[in-house]
Amino acid sequence: MKILVVGGGGREHAVIKKLKENKSVEKIYAAPGNGGIARDAECVPIAATDVAGIVSFAVERGIDYAVVTPDDPLVLGCVDALNEKGIPCFGPDARAAVIEGSKVFSKELMKKYGIPTAKYETFSDMDSALSYLESAKTPIVVKADGLALGKGVVIAETADEAKDAVVSMMRDKKFGKSGESVVIEEYLTGPEVSVLAFTDGKCIKPMVSSMDHKRAKDGDRGLNTGGMGTVAPNPYYTDEVADRCMKEIFIPTVEAMRAEGRTFRGCLYFGLMITEDGPKVIEYNCRFGDPETQVVLPLLKSDLLDIMIATTDGTLDKQEVSFSDKCAACVIMASDGYPASYEKGFEITIPDDALEKVYVAGAKEKDGVLVTSGGRVLGVTEVADTLAEALAEAYGTVRRIHFDNAYYRHDIGARALKAREV
Ligand code: AMP
Ligand code: GLY
Repeated sequence: MKILVVGGGGREHAVIKKLKENKSVEKIYAAPGNGGIARDAECVPIAATDVAGIVSFAVERGIDYAVVTPDDPLVLGCVDALNEKGIPCFGPDARAAVIEGSKVFSKELMKKYGIPTAKYETFSDMDSALSYLESAKTPIVVKADGLALGKGVVIAETADEAKDAVVSMMRDKKFGKSGESVVIEEYLTGPEVSVLAFTDGKCIKPMVSSMDHKRAKDGDRGLNTGGMGTVAPNPYYTDEVADRCMKEIFIPTVEAMRAEGRTFRGCLYFGLMITEDGPKVIEYNCRFGDPETQVVLPLLKSDLLDIMIATTDGTLDKQEVSFSDKCAACVIMASDGYPASYEKGFEITIPDDALEKVYVAGAKEKDGVLVTSGGRVLGVTEVADTLAEALAEAYGTVRRIHFDNAYYRHDIGARALKAREV
């Protein structure tokens, strides 16, 4: 089979390495891929958002199956466009991808179908949002409706901070059209859990749980990022919590989407908070998480391509989806300054024996060497019997990888380790 993977980050590198385990895969293309992915797939210089370019490439090369992983092509209808040409895909169509593409949609879906989430109001008029904030309880959370590279959420300590966020989104158009509407919601507390799940629109099979570390600096300080590291499984996701999530959140979400005529097929990502009142949905994503995928897929024992095809064919109920009971840890090495401004173009050296554990994100090949080209440069994942061992090994490998301006958090997994001791 000839496979096309759309995207070019660490998540796509993890997907590609796993897909290669299937014997029927003869060729994998990545659009656009990156300098590290180029070791495992043929990269083609087509942007993930260039839907027309992707479709014509896929038709021309006789692609048998496409895997669309980033949010923007999914929301733009990349799967719809490939399907129109008869190319089956892993990933939701645009009608279903709206579960991530519009927070107003996802909040209304949860309200309509009784799925637990933070209480909220939505606004498409700035003055109404500002006057609502006059009497709202703080801290309070302001979210841009649409996609905003993970930066469209502001946790405001005071009403003034919340108003500033509303003004920058709605008047100053900080996130363009994505901020035309906003969701203002109750601030929840509790540990966060990410659960990725395969679904064919009828059956849902969750993957092993994980914990992301979104803030840039140690101790959960600094700006929100796409994620600075992950561990799996997440110790806060007990069997009891998992049962409740299945009954109160996962199955109801899949059924709600079907009832709305927006059947979701692919990977549904549940960003959960385990509050005193039970698990609640913080956000949905219509795709694999990054860097959650870099700890979840290394623990997957079943064949990834078979599972993906089962989500497309509607046969997921018959497909085995099983995970190892080991632990995985992923530490992201970033360019110092990320997620704000940073320098790039520095040579990266990775020892040969570490290559297998590295998922490359922001790097390109220049004159035969790998150089940094993005904020998150690469992730190092190790799998071991215990989380402590996986973390020690991941940090050991991180210390053997070099590039100027490298930055990483030193406390990935610290909270998970503490939770284990309790
Ligand atoms: P999101 O992009 O929706 O995942 O939000 C980014 C981060 O903001 C989440 O991972 C949470 O840590 C935090 N967050 C979002 N919504 C809430 C909320 N209602 N209460 C507390 N924290 C939140
Ligand atoms: N790591 C969070 C996300 O992929 O949205």
